[in-house]
Order: sequence, then C-alpha cells, then structure tokens
Amino acid sequence: MTQAGQNNPGRRTLLGAAVLGAGGVTLGLAGTARADDGQAEQRGREDHESYHDLPVPTVVAHRGASGYRPEHTIGSYQLALDMGAHVIEQDLVPTKDGHLVCRHENDITATTDVAAHPEFADRKATKSVDGVSLTGWFTEDFTLAELKTLRTKERIPAIRQENTLYDGRWAIPTFEEVLRWAEKEGRARGRRVWLHIETKHPTYFRGLGLPLEEPLAKLLRKYGRDKKSSPNFLQSFEPTSMRRLAKLVAAPRVVLLDGLGTRPWDFVVAGDPRKVDDLIKPEGLKWISGFAQGLGPTLNLIIPRDEAGKLGKPTTLVRDAHAKGLILHPYTMRNENTFLPADFRRGTDPVAYGNAFGALQLYFEQGIDGIFSDNPDTALLAAADFAGR
Ligand code: G3P
Ligand code: CA
Repeated sequence: MTQAGQNNPGRRTLLGAAVLGAGGVTLGLAGTARADDGQAEQRGREDHESYHDLPVPTVVAHRGASGYRPEHTIGSYQLALDMGAHVIEQDLVPTKDGHLVCRHENDITATTDVAAHPEFADRKATKSVDGVSLTGWFTEDFTLAELKTLRTKERIPAIRQENTLYDGRWAIPTFEEVLRWAEKEGRARGRRVWLHIETKHPTYFRGLGLPLEEPLAKLLRKYGRDKKSSPNFLQSFEPTSMRRLAKLVAAPRVVLLDGLGTRPWDFVVAGDPRKVDDLIKPEGLKWISGFAQGLGPTLNLIIPRDEAGKLGKPTTLVRDAHAKGLILHPYTMRNENTFLPADFRRGTDPVAYGNAFGALQLYFEQGIDGIFSDNPDTALLAAADFAGR
C-alpha cells in the first residue's frame, strides 16, 4: 500500500477489488431485472465511497482496452469493463455545435474514415494546435450530426493489425452516450463504473469559443457525477483547466505531467515560465495540491529512460507527491516491445509483446497508486500479483 494509501485506511487492496469485480459480472447477469434497485444502491454508495476506496494499484483502461479495440469506442470501453478495469478513460474534444465527443485529439484523420468522405474533402485544414502545425480534419469543424456519419478505425494498424478487424464497427461516441452507458452498466453490475475524464487542448478550444469545462460540469451534474465521492477523476495537462473545474464541480482532479523540459500550453499562453521541472519540485507539488488530488505523470518521471530506452535510477517523485497528499496515476503501459523500456523487450520485433509483467512490477514497486494501460487485463494480473506478494 502506498504512502497516500496509508493516509487513507479506507483504501482497499486489489485482492478485495478482484472479488468485487468478479461479483460484479455475476450480479450483472441477474441484476438487469432489478435495474431500479441497482440505481438506488448506487446513489446510496455515492455518499460514502470515494477514490480512496479504489483498489491500489488502480488499473485505468487507457482509451478503453485500446490494445485490443480501436480507441475511444464503446467497444473499447465495454471490453475494458468486461476485463475488470477499475477505471475507464475518456479524452474529450468539442464539436462545432458544442457537444463533447470522445477522441484523443481534435484531428480525427488517424482514427476515423473521414478522409474517405468526399462530402468533407473541403474541411481538410492546416491549423496550429498548442503551437504544433497539423493538417487534417478537426472535430471543431463538424457538427455532431456530421461527425456521426463517420466510422472509427485503429490508430496504429502496423502495430495492432488485429484491431483493424473492428474498423468501421463503431461511431464516435459522445461523452453523454458514455455516461449513459456507464450508468446502465453500473446498474446491471451493481457497482459504480469509474471514469477518468481528460479535457484536451482546453485553452485552444476556449479561444475558439468552445470551452470544455462548463459543458463537462453540466453533464457531470446531470448524471450525478459532480461530487467529491463521484466515480470519476478529471484530468488535464493544463492546470488551469483543473482549477476552473474545481470551481464548478467537486469531483477529484489529476494534473497530467509531460516530460522534463515541457511547459503546459496554458502556461505558454499566460506567460507563466514554469515547466514540468518546476511543478515536480516540492513547491510545485504544493501548488498543485491546492486544487488537485493527484498527478498523472509520464512514466519517465517515475523512472527515467536513457536514449537507448533503458531505465535509470527512480526519481523521488512518488515520495515527494505523496508527501503533499497527491496520488499518482502515471501513463502509459503497453505490452508491445516498441513501447516498453529496453530492459523489458523480448527479441527484436517491435510489434511482439515483451515482458510487460516485469515492467509493471517494477513500476508498482515504486509506490504508484495506479497506472494507465492499453492492456487492462495484463495490468490487472500484474496488480493482483503485486498485491498478493
Ligand atoms: O491521460 C493520461 C494519458 O492518456 C495522457 O496521455 O496523450 O494518451 O492522453 P494521452
Ligand atoms: Ca488521456
């Protein structure tokens, strides 16, 4: 159990949660006939459960079970939930008419069939998003009705060829559809479905007149997920977005941290000179703890990698963040060699699976509270191993 966990004796171990997860599936079969009871049960639990009660290490299904299905589809979320993932991630961007949809970025060229739609050929554009020039098709140039005519596809078919089986199967989900899905699944399983919700490019979108935080807060209130004990985390690489959300809803917040030397885009726009390097110092962590409950650092901030991809000496970030009362959900574990630290690769095929269990054990040993993984089944097994040691 982590230091943060020791401060919160209510936190359960993974073994306890594994029992809950298995029970959830069983309940799901019988529970559909008493959906109303399930709803009442969930409302009751809302009053006393919180993120402190999640199993540790918490497995966050990154973009759903994106190792096995095209990311940010209902199919990807469903598989993650069926695998027993403790929390399921959504990244949010807006449409032209202000609806929130689940995409990792507003450029939908790589994850939809938009390029094959001649009626949208003239929407192709070159834009600067957070200082990066991008050419493609962007969600903010489509109404929701238009976006719904597209089909999703696998982002990295050269690495995840098997996932292309599902190309074209699902539409882009709206965040409200995901909330409805989570409520339905929660009722059927007799347990709450936890979400990890990221605002993408919030300063950029606010500048376009398409703010993310207000419509997100409105939806969270509508579905009763706006409270301190609500079954979701909010997350952003831009601290301003978390500070803004802190004024709108009480749900727990996680500040994402990119690599050393990077600067959050809201800091760039505001002329704030601080970099990630400053935010991971004690004074930076103290500042974050004033409006957030956790950090979502890149794994390289927990254990640095050298140019060859080999791991170095662990940093003090876990200890320092816990000292400020912040939990840590680092990102992102993936099973394929190409994404693993060199120490855990097997053979030379970049697409082949490496020793993901070994890497996960090492990261868990650092005391992290959870982890984002494209392969939630692998991370859950590793977490069970870790909890049972
Ligand atoms: O939000 C955690 C992790 O997903 C951050 O990276 O770029 O995959 O959203 P990204
Ligand atoms: Ca994310």
